[in-house]
Amino acid sequence: MSQAPAPTTVPQHVAIIMDGNGRWAKQRGLPRLEGHRRGVETVRTTTFAARDLGVKVLTLYAFSVENWKRPQDEVGGLMSLLEFYLKKELKTFIRDRVRLRTIGRTEELPASVQKLLRDTIEATKEFHDYTLVLALNYGSRTEVVDAARAYAAAVAAGQEKLNDSSWDTFSRYLYTADLPEPDLVIRTSGESRVSNFLLLQAAYAEFFFTPVLWPDFTKADLAAAIADYAKRERRFGLTSEQLKPAPASASQ
Ligand code: IPE
Ligand code: IPE
Ligand code: MG
Repeated sequence: MSQAPAPTTVPQHVAIIMDGNGRWAKQRGLPRLEGHRRGVETVRTTTFAARDLGVKVLTLYAFSVENWKRPQDEVGGLMSLLEFYLKKELKTFIRDRVRLRTIGRTEELPASVQKLLRDTIEATKEFHDYTLVLALNYGSRTEVVDAARAYAAAVAAGQEKLNDSSWDTFSRYLYTADLPEPDLVIRTSGESRVSNFLLLQAAYAEFFFTPVLWPDFTKADLAAAIADYAKRERRFGLTSEQLKPAPASASQ
């Protein structure tokens, strides 16, 4: 793609907080669910746009643990939409070799959705070039609690030693154990907050906030976020000089 920056500057893992469906609908005098419906279309286009632009892992925040507190009809509508989306996308994922993964407490989702997720994950598990991760019933705090519980059980069973605890050993118990950390986190709709999303994994991610509402988010918007990312220097606590040592001749 001509829009794509040079390969080395493309974030390998992009994570998106898809926000603004409700406001998109409200602006048009439509029910909130219509915004979510249009949001699903954007999920579809963004999944393929990200791959075209060179991204290897795309994580989409689709439903948070806090979102259960929304009005019941909205929650029900979101679950139906998820079911509809998964049914429709399975063939496309297989055709286009997209591996599906989830993060979050999916065991609390409706049984019909769980089954579709299991089937889709199973059917796409051999694809390794591109992964779509859906964050469903996800919350970072819940994830930490789940990880701490699993880690404690592993310590009790003698599989881990408390004295050897480190980020490397503990992070294996997060939902994201086998995924790279996000390089770029995008949030749409003009809100500048993380809303309990990948708090630990995004410790050194770059953030990009855009006023565009999720249903209006296009490939060009994604390309603009990636282009902005490409201009940044990720320092991971080091100095700029350490990252780019001066040429030998210049330092003498
Ligand atoms: C994001 O859009 C979708 C979900 C959280 C499921 P919102 O529904 O949060 O849209 P706004 O923030 O009300 O506009
Ligand atoms: C974050 O959006 C969750 C998802 C995108 C699924 P929200 O709309 O729920 O976040 P807040 O409530 O504005 O922080
Ligand atoms: Mg919102």
